[in-house]
Amino acid sequence: MELGRASGPFTVDVSADGHLRYTPAITLSGLPQPPSLGRHATYVAWVASPTMDVIQRLGTVRNGRTVLPAISLDKFIVLVTAEESANATDMGGRLMLRGMSPSTRLQPPDFMQFVLGSTREDSGGHEHHEHGGGDSLAWTMVPMPAGISMLPAEMTLRPNAAPYLPRVVNPNSLPVAEPRQLIPLASGDTLRLTAGIVRRPFKGRTLTTFAFNGQYPGPLLQVAQGARITVELTNALDQPTTVHWHGVRLDNPNDGVPDMTQRAVAPGERFTYHLRFPDAGIYWYHPHVREDIQQDLGLYGNIMVRSPRSSYFSPANREEVLMLDDLLMGDDGMVPFGTATTTHALMGRFGNVMLVNGEPRYALAVGRGEVVRYFLTNVSNTRTFNLSFLGARMKVVAGDVGNYEREQWVESIVIGPAERYVVHVRFDTAGDVALVNRVRGLDHLYGRFFSEEDTLGVIRVAGGAASPDLSASFATLRADTAVRASVARYRRYFSRPADKALVLTMEAQGLPFFTRQIMQLDSIFFTPVEWSGTMPGMNWAATGDQVRWILRDAATGKENMDIDWTFRRGEVAKIRLVNERRSFHGMQHPIHIHGQRFLVLAVNDVPNTNLVWKDTVLLPAGATADILLDLSNPGRWMLHCHIAEHLSAHMMMAFTVQ
Ligand code: C2O
Ligand code: CU
Repeated sequence: MELGRASGPFTVDVSADGHLRYTPAITLSGLPQPPSLGRHATYVAWVASPTMDVIQRLGTVRNGRTVLPAISLDKFIVLVTAEESANATDMGGRLMLRGMSPSTRLQPPDFMQFVLGSTREDSGGHEHHEHGGGDSLAWTMVPMPAGISMLPAEMTLRPNAAPYLPRVVNPNSLPVAEPRQLIPLASGDTLRLTAGIVRRPFKGRTLTTFAFNGQYPGPLLQVAQGARITVELTNALDQPTTVHWHGVRLDNPNDGVPDMTQRAVAPGERFTYHLRFPDAGIYWYHPHVREDIQQDLGLYGNIMVRSPRSSYFSPANREEVLMLDDLLMGDDGMVPFGTATTTHALMGRFGNVMLVNGEPRYALAVGRGEVVRYFLTNVSNTRTFNLSFLGARMKVVAGDVGNYEREQWVESIVIGPAERYVVHVRFDTAGDVALVNRVRGLDHLYGRFFSEEDTLGVIRVAGGAASPDLSASFATLRADTAVRASVARYRRYFSRPADKALVLTMEAQGLPFFTRQIMQLDSIFFTPVEWSGTMPGMNWAATGDQVRWILRDAATGKENMDIDWTFRRGEVAKIRLVNERRSFHGMQHPIHIHGQRFLVLAVNDVPNTNLVWKDTVLLPAGATADILLDLSNPGRWMLHCHIAEHLSAHMMMAFTVQ
C-alpha cells in the first residue's frame, strides 16, 4: 500500500485541525476469487486506529491497484476482509490481509535505555564550554513545551557554545522600537535603512532586540512592478550584517550574500543596494549573516510589489500584511543564542510565543461580509504553520512570486519558513473569528501524537454589513490568464527527465551519548513535518559544530559549497529534490533558490495541477519534489535551506548562471 498524496496547492496535505491526509493506493495480487471462500462476495478494505476504537470503511478492492479515500489518522491499521456484500458497512467477514502505517512503529521505547542514558556522565558536555569574556550571561534550562516529557539526562544538556544576547552598557539610551510604517517608494527613490539595536517592551519586560529603522517588523516597502530604487544600509549592530532581498530577481551584486556578492558590512559601515523589481507579489528582506540570531531578533520586513494591472487580484475590501514569527522566551527573558556557532542545530529554534508583526496578539475589526486580502510571510527560524480562520472561508490566490494559475479554496494555509501566500478570507457572520495554528505535535519519547493549537489573533466581525458587497466575486474562483500564459511557455519542459538531483540529508559528530541513543530510536519513523519543538533539550544543545546538514549532488556526490553547478542564461533546468528518509534525522526543509524563480511540478510524483512561481519549496521528510528552474538571471547565486539553524549548519550551495 502506498500512502500517496492528493494534488493540492501545498506540498503537505493536511486538514485544518492538523491531521496529515494520506491518499492510499492498494495493490493486491493472488487473492482468490471471493466465492471460493464460501458465501463471500467481495473484498473490502477498512482503516482502523491501532486500538480498533475507530474503524472506517475505505471501499471495495480487488486484485490490481485501487486508489482509496484519504486517511487522516496519526497511526492506523489497514485490513482487507472478504464480505458477503460489497455494501457492507461493518467489518464482519473473514480477515485476509492486514498492514500497519509506518507511524505505528513509534512505541514507548525500552525504558532501560533511558535509565542507562540518564546515568552516563558524558551526557552534558558542559565541562568544555567556550567562555563569553567573563561576564554573567549563562545558559539556564530551555523552556519546556506543555505536555512533553523530558528525561533527567536531557535536562542536563547544554550547548557547547558561549551564550549571546545583544547587550549595551546603557540600555536606557536605546531607542524604543515602534510598529512598522508603510513606505511607498517611486522609481529613482533612495531609502536609508539602518539595522540597529533597540529596546522593546514585551509582555511586561523590556527586551534588547534588533530592528530596521527602529521598527518591528522593518518598514513595509511598497513599489511598482518594474521600479528601481536605491537602499543605503547602515550597520549599527554589534556584528557584521548584509541585507538579502528574498525572492526579488535583482542584479547579482545586490543579492546580499556575504563572501559571494559582497563583503559583510562591518559595524558602523555602509553599503548601497540597487534594487529592481521585475515581478509583482509580496517579497521580504532580511540579513544573510547569522539569520538564526539577526532575523530572529527582528530584522525582517516586507516588500509589496504592485502590478500595473488594476485587476491583478480579484476584489477585496481591505488588505492586511502579516509577518508570522515565534520567539523563544525563558524565565529570564529571551533564551540566548550561540556566539560562534548556532544552537538548535537539529530541528531549528522553535519559539514558544507566536508573533504576528512582532506582537503576541493580532487584532482586527471588520464589517460583516468583508473580504480581507491577507499577505502572509513566514519569517520564523524553523516553524511551519498550518493556519486557518475558524469559521471563515478562505481561498489561496498567490504564492511566493505572484498569482496561482487560478484561485483555489483551502481549509488551511501550510506555510514554511520564507514562503509567502496571499489568501482572500470572507467574514460572513458577526462575532469573533480566531486566527489559529493547529498542528499535531509528536512526543518522541512515548511515540504519541497530540493536538497543539495556538491563537495568533482575533478578528472582530461587526454586525453591520460591509460595503461594497463582494460575495459574488468571492464565490467565484478566478483564473489568472497572464500567469497561465507565462506558465504555458514552460510546459514543453515538464515531462523531460530531471537534469540534476539533490539529496537532503545530515551527519552528526560529537553529540552526547544520550542524544545519539534517542535519535537512533527516533529514526524508526520521521513524521513528514515537525510542526513543533518536541525534543527541546536535545535540539537546543546540538550546535552547528556537531550537526552538518547536507545538500548532496546525486551525480557527483559533492556536498554543499563543494557543488559547482553552471548553467547558461535562458536555460530551464528540471531539478529533483529528494529529502532522504533514511537520514540520521529526517525532517522537512524549506529550500530557497536566490535570484531565479521555479515551478513545483510534482511532489512524490503526483503532478501539481495549479501552478505558481515560487522561490522556496517546503520539502517534507521522505518527500521528493520536481522543480522547473527558470535560469534567467546571470550571476553566482545561493540555494539553501531556509531553516536558519540549518543554514548556519552548512546546508547551502552555490550555482552560476553564465
Ligand atoms: Cu531568505 Cu538566502 O534567503
Ligand atoms: Cu533544513
